[in-house]
Amino acid sequence: MYSLFKLFLVAFPLITLVGAHSPSRYLPITVGSRSTDKTYTIQDFYQGTDFFNDWDFFTGSDPTGGNVNYQNKSSAESKKLAYVNDSATVLAIDSTSKVAAGGYRDAVRITSQKSYNGGLFIMDASKMPVGCSTWPSFWTVGPDWPYGGEIDIVEGINDQTKNQMTLHSGTDNACTIDTDDSDQYTGSVLNTKCYSTETSDSGCSILDASTTSFAYGFNNADGGVFALLWDNSTGMSMWHFARADIPSDLTDKSPTPSTWGTPSGFWSAKTCDITDNFYDQQMVIDTTICGNWASGAYSKSGCPGNCTDMVANATNYVDAKWVINYVAVYE
Ligand SMILES: *[C@@H]1O[C@H](CO)[C@@H](O)[C@H](O)[C@H]1NC(C)=O
Ligand SMILES: *[C@@H]1O[C@H](CO)[C@@H](O)[C@H](O)[C@H]1NC(C)=O
Ligand SMILES: *[C@@H]1O[C@H](CO)[C@@H](O)[C@H](O)[C@H]1NC(C)=O
Ligand SMILES: *[C@@H]1O[C@H](CO)[C@@H](O)[C@H](O)[C@H]1NC(C)=O
Ligand SMILES: *[C@@H]1O[C@H](CO)[C@@H](O)[C@H](O)[C@H]1NC(C)=O
Repeated sequence: MYSLFKLFLVAFPLITLVGAHSPSRYLPITVGSRSTDKTYTIQDFYQGTDFFNDWDFFTGSDPTGGNVNYQNKSSAESKKLAYVNDSATVLAIDSTSKVAAGGYRDAVRITSQKSYNGGLFIMDASKMPVGCSTWPSFWTVGPDWPYGGEIDIVEGINDQTKNQMTLHSGTDNACTIDTDDSDQYTGSVLNTKCYSTETSDSGCSILDASTTSFAYGFNNADGGVFALLWDNSTGMSMWHFARADIPSDLTDKSPTPSTWGTPSGFWSAKTCDITDNFYDQQMVIDTTICGNWASGAYSKSGCPGNCTDMVANATNYVDAKWVINYVAVYE
């Protein structure tokens, strides 16, 4: 998400290693296996009228070069770009103002005040932002990028139909996706090296297999749940569940992720030094417009015209909004 050079991934999204997976020598996860059976306990449950008390509104210019004016809390609330409706949290892009081609639309990017060093991170949303030129994301980031690392749980652009999950590691090259363990995730690998720098920051990505994991497919399923399990000794696992498939133990707030089946994405601690590369992560929820990735990939998408012109099309942003039932962190 930090991404100056997401262009790379987009230019070559089909050159994946999927076809190159060697027949899997399946190994059960043995490292720290006891922790994998753990039932997690709720730490923080972000929902309802208090939601925004625990998040800060980012007001700088978009580091990814997007055509957005990020709003502070009072402006976002008065412009109805950030509000709680019933118990759902809505984060929207301005879809009523006249903005010139290449101009900047009001938008919202929020960061959790709390930072974390492991656990199970959940977002339950009924809608996510959709539309050509949009770039929604739910991610976590540590201090002093790239050293504290970055974990992109939900991300994609334009007319993308499947969720792209990515890690960015900072300290060295000791973090890759273990393609020998490819039956430990159901998604397809786009790039194996997590090491990221300011000038080369694709990170290591896995594309979800399901079209209910992103954009219109996600919204048509009444959304669902995205989960990140960060376990230092096992690795990083990510799941997406369409609403009808949400595990009952999660609904009951007593999740045991080892019962959830193969994750969509898995970054094994066997090939990634998790503790070295990821710490003090704050959660971020964002929607930007165009920017390096969405505008760079725009002409290769099925979207009409160009990204610069699309910014002027207010009605394009009517559904560019998150409707979030809750965000939770379990430890
Ligand atoms: C929020 O932004 C508005 C519009 O830019 C500005 O007038 C206001 O002073 C800001 N409020 C705070 C608390 O920074
Ligand atoms: C508020 O929530 C209700 C019930 O979910 C929904 O019908 C309505 O469209 C929402 N309104 C806004 C402005 O988000
Ligand atoms: C994971 O490793 C980090 C970095 O060493 C550490 O701060 C954290 O406490 C560890 N998390 C857990 C849950 O043990
Ligand atoms: C976008 O397309 C319009 C024509 O519809 C053109 O005038 C404009 O220069 C294009 N902008 C960019 C940045 O390519
Ligand atoms: C404006 O956006 C709407 C909704 O995405 C789309 O149907 C329409 O074709 C767009 N108009 C132009 C001129 O691109």
